[in-house]
Amino acid sequence: MKTIAVLTSGGDSPGMNACLRAVAKVAAGRGTHVLGSLEGYEGLMDDRFRDLTRHLPDGKVGTDLELDAAGGMGGTVIGSARSARFREKPGRDKALENLRARGVEGLIVIGGNGSLTGAHLFATETGFKVVGIPGSIDNDIGCTATCLGVDTALNTIVDACDKISDTARAHRRAFVVEVMGRDCGYLAMASSVAVAADAVLIREEGKSEEQLVAAVADVIRKGFSRGKRRVLIIKSEGIQMPTTKLVRQTSELLEPELPNAEIRATVLGHVVRGGNPSYQDRAIGGRLGACAVAALLDGATDEMLGWQSPNPGGSPTMDPYVQRFKLDQVLVETKALIDGTSPIIKRRLKLMQVAADVLPL
Ligand code: F6P
Repeated sequence: MKTIAVLTSGGDSPGMNACLRAVAKVAAGRGTHVLGSLEGYEGLMDDRFRDLTRHLPDGKVGTDLELDAAGGMGGTVIGSARSARFREKPGRDKALENLRARGVEGLIVIGGNGSLTGAHLFATETGFKVVGIPGSIDNDIGCTATCLGVDTALNTIVDACDKISDTARAHRRAFVVEVMGRDCGYLAMASSVAVAADAVLIREEGKSEEQLVAAVADVIRKGFSRGKRRVLIIKSEGIQMPTTKLVRQTSELLEPELPNAEIRATVLGHVVRGGNPSYQDRAIGGRLGACAVAALLDGATDEMLGWQSPNPGGSPTMDPYVQRFKLDQVLVETKALIDGTSPIIKRRLKLMQVAADVLPL
């Protein structure tokens, strides 16, 4: 392939730039040019691209210098978007037309569930060669142990909770901290153990608003009666009840017995999605990006590169931690992660039940 394209789509995640840089470098090493589609699928349909490689004076292909420098930064230098137009056939037809007109022979899609669904549709419908890379801080993609951005997001949450804990202990306060994760409570679960929170609230447990208020009140009651100066509850964004409402109702419930209890709400929001990628996200981004180029140039299509411990059953690549999975399998497993039927979710919930007994001690 003389030219391939790459795009970042959906919510950005730290590590996307490191991944783009690896794609550009590995492709350049094989003499292949890389066009970055601007703002995800939107750029494909509007014919907006940026060359991520360049002609070197010695006749070789090199990496775009700005991308070379941006590999360690958060966000994505080619922009990202959630595209409604690409879900419709005319949008995908236009994208194919533009790619062909530019002589692009393969496409790498870095993104989450919606982006990979678009990649699968495009590959199967048009026969165009498409390979996906899981990029989402939510960690809700099937066939991969982690996604680009998860490690950095967890580090950001841990840092924020450590800071909140400092001030909470100074004033003897309880905090409910909301962390991102639309359909998946992974960030909340993983961070709660790392910061020794007193409790974690996730959508997957299916608690009603009343039960949530009762659970938070119980944790605060026990925490303060056991002499704790900080009570920390991590709540996943996926829970529909607004965090401020949860805190207000809990305060009202506890008022008669703990009139001086101070309970505060902090919503971390998009802070969790920004920031320079951690070592792990740079490494994973680089290695997934490198294997995606190799797979595409070897003729792979309708596949995703997953990060796995060696040998869980995928087809091997040059990197033992990176394996190729068919996108339809990825999407089936993703759906099960989101609707809670996946054995992975059942295992996580069991683990969290064990943690729930010891976290408040
Ligand atoms: O990328 C995933 C995610 O960060 C979710 O955790 C969150 O619910 C959503 O994106 C927010 O999307 P937006 O930035 O479009 O509001």
